[in-house]
Amino acid sequence: MICSEAPGKIILFGEHFVVKNKPAIVTAVNLYAKTIIKEYNGFKVESKQMGFTIDLDKPVPREYSHFIEIFKLISVKTSISKGFYAIIDSNIPVASGMGSSAATAVSLTHALLSYYGFKPEYSLVNEIAYRAEEIVHGKPSGVDNTVSTYGGLLFYRKNSFERISIKWPDEIVILVVDTGIKRNTGEVVRKVLELYDKYVDIYSGIYGVYEKLVFEAYKYLVHGDFHRLGELMNINQSLLESLNISNSVLENIVYAMREKGALGSKISGAGQGGIVIGLFKTSDLKNDLIHEFNSKGFKTYIVKPINTGVKNC
Ligand code: PMV
Repeated sequence: MICSEAPGKIILFGEHFVVKNKPAIVTAVNLYAKTIIKEYNGFKVESKQMGFTIDLDKPVPREYSHFIEIFKLISVKTSISKGFYAIIDSNIPVASGMGSSAATAVSLTHALLSYYGFKPEYSLVNEIAYRAEEIVHGKPSGVDNTVSTYGGLLFYRKNSFERISIKWPDEIVILVVDTGIKRNTGEVVRKVLELYDKYVDIYSGIYGVYEKLVFEAYKYLVHGDFHRLGELMNINQSLLESLNISNSVLENIVYAMREKGALGSKISGAGQGGIVIGLFKTSDLKNDLIHEFNSKGFKTYIVKPINTGVKNC
């Protein structure tokens, strides 16, 4: 039996801006998509979380065609000497901004390469998972599959990244609030790009301001100045609002966090739904705030960066 697990992610800075080649700061977090593979007379993929089972050697609905792509790319690299039954189990919320589709692609790719006796090098896993993400999202920046593959806290730019090697302080945590409002990343990205093209002069200025911001954020992260980092998250949130990806549900969470002691808070991921993140000192993060969010039907997670990417489990 083969088992591989790949982490989900949180974008601290730079969703959407990264699509236009600006850097993003992103981290792997301790929620995982896990794939278990057993030998089988056929080529089956089952997702426990999504509740589907598909046969890769038969026509599959369009929404699952990225699994066919992974299988195709793997069969180019390895000899498909035997069949398999892959079971994917994930605790990463779906379509929420935590990189669930990328982590699924990364863990399945890593598991299948291992199953066929091929060394699952990070670069190859990442490349195959990116191709799957292209089918799911259209024109992804590649940030999700990269952070899920390599793990850690990354300063990411399309096609390259640098690891930010800091020790994350014990007294700082990230509160994630999942609104449960599902959205399609590809569609939200397309709308933002349309808006950009409509007002190129305005948005090229805003994207330039964002670029200054992310370099400052990098500096404060490395220096361990989380007060400044939080303030920059708030400014990043204002820039995201200008991309028209916010709404009153998200804004209420952003401001509730700030009013209850967050160092900074913002949408994370594509927006229009999905998650809001708040940077907190552990001493300032009170249970009543978490209860307040839960009582409104939102799921909450307290996460920290993790260093490991995809691995055997
Ligand atoms: O799929 P999400 O919600 O994690 O969003 C990914 C981040 C975007 O910048 C909006 C898209 C991308 O490909 O980088």
